[in-house]
Amino acid sequence: MSFTLAKTERLAAILSQTPVIPVLTFSDAKTGVATCKALRDGGLTVLEVTMRTPKALEALRAIVDEVEGVTAGAGTVLETQHVEQAIQAGANFLVSPGSSSRLLSAGSEAPVPFLPGVSTASEAMQLAERGATFAKFFPAGPAGGPAFLKALVAPLPELHFVPTGGVDLKNAQEYLDLRNVAAVGGSWVVPQDALDSGDWARITQLAKEASALKARSSSQA
Ligand code: 3PG
Repeated sequence: MSFTLAKTERLAAILSQTPVIPVLTFSDAKTGVATCKALRDGGLTVLEVTMRTPKALEALRAIVDEVEGVTAGAGTVLETQHVEQAIQAGANFLVSPGSSSRLLSAGSEAPVPFLPGVSTASEAMQLAERGATFAKFFPAGPAGGPAFLKALVAPLPELHFVPTGGVDLKNAQEYLDLRNVAAVGGSWVVPQDALDSGDWARITQLAKEASALKARSSSQA
């Protein structure tokens, strides 16, 4: 099964809405809703809710139902079962840190766009063989950073990446200036202490700074 043009276009439209996708891990739905409202108020409207906690699916469902004006995806999708659960919880897109062959089949057959992860040229080529145009580049810092992605532009010009893992406000623009970067992902916009203390104003402020960044490849740039 390969990646369809229709879903690739939907993914392109989602990614063009934002330079930064917050990577979010919630231990309860209420905190998830409040955090996503704070991020939206700061201008970040595309969000990745990781499937790493027992309440992740409940949080995703509440965000989809209660937070207007955001596009919420499911992150840390590792297995076929996660794909089904995330779709049932209302995920608008799916993200994985990697790309096993079974997950690629399940993800590309899902009714919403799928952003699989890669960290090598060979993995990127396997995605390209299946017709994918976008990939998460994870873990971006340890796997080679901006220099690695820059080196892929010449041999793999059709592929665009969402670097995530070790990205923050200081280095995000260096990634976003590359022609093959659609957006970056990261958890820095929601520091754990702000989440724990319910400091929504700080999260909105961090989102404002992040949403002011510009992706070179974005039609919004
Ligand atoms: C992810 O799942 O994408 C990462 O955990 C996010 O990485 P970061 O915490 O370094 O931003």
